[in-house]
Amino acid sequence: MPGGNLEKIKDNVWKREQDGKRFSVKRYQSMSTIVKVREVHDLLKGASFSNIVPVVADDNPLLFVQPWLDGARAANFKKRVDRTDSLAVLHALHETAEQIDWHASPYLHPYPLIAKWENRIVRFREIRGMCEAYIGKGRVDEILFFARNALALVKKNYRTDKDCTLLHGDVVHHNMLRDEGGIIRLIDFDLACVGPAGTEIALWMHRVLPQIGYDVEFLFDEQPSLQKLDRTSKTLLLYPNELLREWLYLFTLSPASRERHAKQLIPFTESALSHWPKLWYDVERINI
Ligand SMILES: Nc1ncnc2c1ncn2[C@@H]1O[C@H](COP(=O)(O)OP(=O)(O)O)[C@@H](O)[C@H]1O
Ligand SMILES: [Mg+2]
Repeated sequence: MPGGNLEKIKDNVWKREQDGKRFSVKRYQSMSTIVKVREVHDLLKGASFSNIVPVVADDNPLLFVQPWLDGARAANFKKRVDRTDSLAVLHALHETAEQIDWHASPYLHPYPLIAKWENRIVRFREIRGMCEAYIGKGRVDEILFFARNALALVKKNYRTDKDCTLLHGDVVHHNMLRDEGGIIRLIDFDLACVGPAGTEIALWMHRVLPQIGYDVEFLFDEQPSLQKLDRTSKTLLLYPNELLREWLYLFTLSPASRERHAKQLIPFTESALSHWPKLWYDVERINI
């Protein structure tokens, strides 16, 4: 347990109050991740990248301490301003490759996209019986159909030697906090890695699309920078990433939380699957 006056946020994260100031304190299990996270912050600070939270020194090498962002709010991808600003921050993060040779860092590994997505399909197949109890065999088959076909297309074209840079690695809304001054700050670089910028932009779109009725055309119109996205990164949109992740997550929960989560996941799945054929059509059309 870290010292000071503590309020537990999650298993590994506390809010610490000391001398009238507040800090976030995150405890790591091993040195490998925290060393990477420190290096990423050091290098980004050196490049004057301002959309992060400063790092505060601590005696315990396994504790990562930062000033608490009072009144900060997680990005809300239903809001245009949050989509626009979070995307701009991601582009700025990726553009740091102009100043920083991220590949020279021994701590940053290539983003294992294909392995991760293959593994998700394998694990989803292992739990398919349990999923069928909630959504039926037809829906499970559909998810697998889209996942396999998308992955086959991705595998044909995916290249990791172009446009590579630092990737945050976990661009979920609660790792993008808008502070009281209105600035978006990226936190939680635990999954930082190197890879193609377009991969992370597509992963951000995976998170955003469910919030805007999977209207990919609308998003490309709203965010002109997306029009520069390469063909392969657009193909990544076809993989039902959120569905696989959420169904796998469901069966890690206790029975009570599982039922609560399932109540939301079932309509989320119905909605995603009803939009997927049109999404596929739109992505192929945009790719022409
Ligand atoms: N500096 C901070 N200021 C305000 N909230 C924070 C700060 N650091 C973490 N949090 C809150 O704690 C949550 C968990 O922290 P995070 O580092 O993302 O841990 P995890 O790896 O468990 O996701 C964040 O989503 C955010 O709500
Ligand atoms: Mg987090």
